[in-house]
Amino acid sequence: MHGQPQEQAHGQPTHGAPAPHPLAPDWLSPITDSAGLEHHLLPADAHRDDDGVLTVGGVDVASLAEEHGTPLYVLSESDFRARARAFREAFGRAFAPETEVDVFYAGKAFLSTQVVAWAVEEGLCVDTSTGGELAVALAGGADPARLGLHGNNKSDDEIRRALDAGIGRIIADSLDELERIETIAEQMRTRAPVMLRLTPGVHASTHEYIATAHEDQKFGLSMARDSGPSVAERAAAAALDSEHIDLRGLHCHIGSQIFEPTGFEVAARRLIELVADIRRDHGVELAELDLGGGHGIAYTEADDPRRPEDIAEALAATVKTACAEADLRVPRISIEPGRAIVGPAGFTLYRVGVQKDVGVDAPDGSTATRRYVAVDGGMSDNARGVLYGADYSAVLAGRKVVGDHRLSRIVGKHCESGDIVVRDVYLPAATVRGDLLAVPATGAYCHSLASNYNWLPRPAVVAVAEGAARTLIRRETEDEMLSRDTGWTA
Ligand code: LLP
Repeated sequence: MHGQPQEQAHGQPTHGAPAPHPLAPDWLSPITDSAGLEHHLLPADAHRDDDGVLTVGGVDVASLAEEHGTPLYVLSESDFRARARAFREAFGRAFAPETEVDVFYAGKAFLSTQVVAWAVEEGLCVDTSTGGELAVALAGGADPARLGLHGNNKSDDEIRRALDAGIGRIIADSLDELERIETIAEQMRTRAPVMLRLTPGVHASTHEYIATAHEDQKFGLSMARDSGPSVAERAAAAALDSEHIDLRGLHCHIGSQIFEPTGFEVAARRLIELVADIRRDHGVELAELDLGGGHGIAYTEADDPRRPEDIAEALAATVKTACAEADLRVPRISIEPGRAIVGPAGFTLYRVGVQKDVGVDAPDGSTATRRYVAVDGGMSDNARGVLYGADYSAVLAGRKVVGDHRLSRIVGKHCESGDIVVRDVYLPAATVRGDLLAVPATGAYCHSLASNYNWLPRPAVVAVAEGAARTLIRRETEDEMLSRDTGWTA
C-alpha cells in the first residue's frame, strides 16, 4: 500500500494514542497535537498558516521544499538577529556601568558571508577557529579588528594570515603556540594581540566530547599548580615579557550545550584570581576577560535553557564580586555564543520516505511497536545524533493532521543503523511518504558538520525573512562532488 507504514511480521500495530508508550523516554509527553511543541522549539516567527502549513519568516515550507528541494536547512534571519541582539543587550546591561561587553558570534556553529553580515549589523564581533573560518568572516565584510582566531593547533600560515589581516585577537592555546606567535609577529615586525586560553579545571556537565575546561583534554593552558607556577602563569609571564606580544587578557570556554550556571561562574572566579596573581607578580592588570560560549538551547521539550538576561546577570554578579574582592577593575568582558544564537533560528526540512513498524521488547516486558520513519538525509546533514547521542524533535510541517500519533524514530538514508535523526518523537499516524518534516534547532553544528557520506550532496541553506527566501549556501551537486575525482570526465 503506497505511503503506508509496512507492518513487519513480529510488529504489534498500536491502536489509539499510546499514553505513555512503553518505549518512550520519560521526558517525552505522549502528545497528540504538536502545536505547543512547535512554538517552543521553532524560530520565533514560525506559525501554521490557514491550511496548516508551517510558515517561517512569511514563507511556507511547502514552497521552500518545492523550490529548493530537501533536505533543506532553513534559517530565520529575524530570529538569528533577535538572539544576537538579546545577547549583546543583556550582557551590555548586566555589566554596565563598570565595563563593556563584546559578543563574539562563534562562527563554527554556522558561518556564511551573509550570516557574518547579520552578526556585524547587530553589533557583534566574530570568533573564528581556522584559516577557513577567518576567510569567510573577512569575505563577509567583518572588520578584522573585531575578529578573533581560536584553534588548538593553528598552523604558522593561519597565524600569519590572521596577523596580516590585522586581526583583533589571537587566542593562544599552548606555550608552543605562544612562542610561534611571537616569532611570526617578530618576523612581520608587528605586535600580536593575544588572549590566553586557560583550562580552569571545571568539568562542565555536558557530553564528554564537548566539555573543554577539565584537565584531561586537548584545549588550553592548564591552571593547575604542582610545585611551581602553572602552565598558564608561565604563559602569562612569557607573553608579558615579549615585545611582540600584546597580552590583552585571559580566556576560557568550558564547553558547549551547558544549562548549569555553576561551571561558568567557577571558571570566571578562577580567571579573576589569576588576573590578581598576575598583577601581584608582574604589576600588570590585564584589561580583558573572555568567558567563552557554550550556552545550552532547547532541542526537545526536556530542555529548559536560561534566557540571555539570566545568564548575563548571574555572570555579571560573579565577576563584579570577584573583582571587588581582589580589588581589580572589572575588565572588558567578551563572550562567544554560537549555538544559542544560530541553533534555534534554524530547522531542517526533510521528506518522508519509507516507514516501517518494528516490534521491540520494551523494558516493561511487553512487545511494543516503534515506527521507523526514513527521511531523505540523515547523518550527513546532522551528525550530532551519531557524535553525541543528541536528541531532537520533529513536526509534520507541510500539513496539519489531527488524530492519533505514533511513537516514531526518524532515521536517515545512510548505510548505518546509528543514522538516527530524531530518536523519539510522536508523529501523526497518518504521516505518509512525501510528507514534509521539520526538525527544529538545527541551525548550529549541522551544516558545519555536514559530510558527503555515501556521496550525498550537502543540502542548501536558505534564509527566510519578510516573506522572501534567499539562498545562503547552494545545494551541492553530484558534478561538484565528482569534480574532485581526478578520474572523472564530465
Ligand atoms: N568559543 C570556543 C572557544 C569554542 O570552542 C566554542 C565551541 C564556542 C565558543 C561556541 O560554543 P557554543 O556557544 O556554540 O556552544 N559540535 C558540537 C559543539 C562543539 C563546540 C565547539 N566549540 C555540537 O554539535 O554540540
